[in-house]
Amino acid sequence: MTSALAVPILDDDLEARLRARMAEVEDALLHHVESEAPFVTRAARHLMEAGGRRFRPLLVLLAAETGDAGAPGVLTSACVVELTHLASLYHDDVMDEADLRRGAASANARWDNHVAILTGDFLFSKSSELTADLGPEAVRLQARTFTRLVEGQILETLGPQDDQDPLEHYLRVVAGKTGSLIATSARYGAMFADAPTDVVEALTEYGEKVGVAFQLSDDILDIVSETEDSGKTPGTDLREGVPTLPVLIAQRSTDPADARLLELLGSDLTEDAPHAEALALLRVHPAMAEARAYVVSLAAEAKGLLKVLPESTVRTALEAFADAVATRSS
Ligand code: FPP
Ligand code: MG
Repeated sequence: MTSALAVPILDDDLEARLRARMAEVEDALLHHVESEAPFVTRAARHLMEAGGRRFRPLLVLLAAETGDAGAPGVLTSACVVELTHLASLYHDDVMDEADLRRGAASANARWDNHVAILTGDFLFSKSSELTADLGPEAVRLQARTFTRLVEGQILETLGPQDDQDPLEHYLRVVAGKTGSLIATSARYGAMFADAPTDVVEALTEYGEKVGVAFQLSDDILDIVSETEDSGKTPGTDLREGVPTLPVLIAQRSTDPADARLLELLGSDLTEDAPHAEALALLRVHPAMAEARAYVVSLAAEAKGLLKVLPESTVRTALEAFADAVATRSS
């Protein structure tokens, strides 16, 4: 049986094809993380089996529909991007000290930081092995993507420099830690399907914008959602002192009515009481609507880039993909 896709695909034939290919990706992923050591296989499959929408491999397959979708390299690169993403989640949960991921215990909570870090390394090396099968251009792209992922994460940890606008800094962080891999997903799909160069370039840029929109939606969800919807602990960014888009917008306010919120946002929110108060104030703040509007405008820019494609079911599906990312509720 094939599972539902993370985004609505209006065309029945395209949907059936994508579902069948995603089922192949799923089987291949389980196989790719097999290790000689049963414990490593178990730890590596832990988050994979906990769920996840597989946005990145789905984008590879969708982008490949602009050319020869069945070409060798499409399926492998779909696995590469999901394994890279999964690897980054194991590391990210250690850095965030997160307990929950995809509704399951994070690897660091279930085992410990050492297991989580090494499992992340294992998954990343598996994705690198697979990338080697795709040839030197893919290896270069994968290396560049990894550099951007890590730089984004480091810039986030460092925070903005004194002379830097915090919002501008944050958007650079997001482009690195999330835009990069989603841009690469779209690029791999179009590139391995042998789509024309202008399509490959436009889809890369589309992926970058959709990726940034994806992360910014995630930031909004971190504030608005309940645990049951997101499979993560809400308010984690706030507790960890990571100022995300809604917080950065709220911090620009000069309205005296925001004095308490601004005071809280400038203080330590690791304790439950101030954390809950800040979360409640943020949830009803106009910064939330402004953040949402920014995400929707990014999705519109991404869709604009699709004009390079003729009107077609794949173009409609890529438009729906951008919309789904911008308005996601989990
Ligand atoms: C989630 O961000 C984290 C990322 C998108 C990237 C993290 C990258 C690294 C840890 C670099 C190491 C990478 C590899 C491949 C080993 P978030 O914490 O804002 O989102 P969340 O709400 O899903 O936790
Ligand atoms: Mg995190």
